[in-house]
Amino acid sequence: MDTTILGRTGLKVSVAGLGCGGHSRLGQAYGNSFDDSVAVVKVAIDLGINWIDTAAAYGTEKIVGAAVKGVRDKVHISTKTAILPWGEPKAKPYTGADVLEQLEKNLGRLGTDYIDLYNLHGIVEAQLDYVNAELVPALIKAREQGKIRYLGITEHFGSDTSHKMLTAAVPTGIWDVVMVGFNLLNPSARHNVLRLTREHRVGVQDMFAVRRALSNPDGLKEALEAIEKAGQLDRSKLDAEPLAFLGDVVDAAYRFCRHEPGIDIVLTGTGKAAHLKENAASITRGPLPPKVLARLEELFGDVDSVSGN
Ligand SMILES: NC(=O)c1ccc[n+]([C@@H]2O[C@H](COP(=O)([O-])OP(=O)(O)OC[C@H]3O[C@@H](n4cnc5c(N)ncnc54)[C@H](OP(=O)(O)O)[C@@H]3O)[C@@H](O)[C@H]2O)c1
Repeated sequence: MDTTILGRTGLKVSVAGLGCGGHSRLGQAYGNSFDDSVAVVKVAIDLGINWIDTAAAYGTEKIVGAAVKGVRDKVHISTKTAILPWGEPKAKPYTGADVLEQLEKNLGRLGTDYIDLYNLHGIVEAQLDYVNAELVPALIKAREQGKIRYLGITEHFGSDTSHKMLTAAVPTGIWDVVMVGFNLLNPSARHNVLRLTREHRVGVQDMFAVRRALSNPDGLKEALEAIEKAGQLDRSKLDAEPLAFLGDVVDAAYRFCRHEPGIDIVLTGTGKAAHLKENAASITRGPLPPKVLARLEELFGDVDSVSGN
């Protein structure tokens, strides 16, 4: 497994990270048992993946905790708390004390006494002032206590497809690592977030490399329709099989992200060991050929309207 240095954290991390959320949640979304999912995490570790991303909201922290028992010092754990009760958008946001209470729960479920990267989950631009004033001081306190090593923030890519939140958050200097949505259908982060993260030496985790649009024909159809509706796609340029020029679409999707300057870790989310092995191989393969990249740029280079969810 190839490794890289994660921005100013200095951590040596695998370029592939295991995503324990998304539509699969390590297969918990479609019937994997607890032990099946633990086995997937262990396969990741055997493949040399030392970066595992989970969250309170995914219900997979206990699985990660069980899988890393005995090898905790060999892996880096990224986990998250939302800033208000999950699925209750009208609820009162957490206070700093509430976030510290959530952190204790994360630690308990993971069975660890420290978290490498603690992220605020799915933040939108309108929440940033509150986050900075009320929650960041609490996170800094937790860092001083050694409960978290680095501070992270993740965007809500589904509703923030042009990265307004991260574009505002990165220059504050608060965040050591950010999680951004970037894929071959919407590479817009290269024009804002990735330029800023490199300038500020902020580490980057990439999410949505494949998601539904690039692993499911209906997902692709919906995404292309949405891009066209946003006036960002000239249908006449598409072939009957729009992505046939990529060959293996999933392989191409991960390689596209892996070789984007500024992206450190490409997350791959799956509940299947076989998929994980294929994806780890894709993420360590070379870049896509220049002709393929040029065609992608022609079709989707200006898209910032979909996530590919
Ligand atoms: N705002 C946030 O903080 C946020 C939001 C979303 C995601 N995330 C993080 O980002 C991670 C990555 O996102 P994601 O889980 O959506 O990952 P992804 O790698 O972009 O896509 C995963 C999807 O593709 C399928 N897939 C994976 N490998 C495949 C293969 N070789 N062939 C065919 N289908 C394949 C998976 O299904 P199978 O299970 O069938 O393989 C799953 O449905 C998440 O797990 C989570 O940790 C964070």
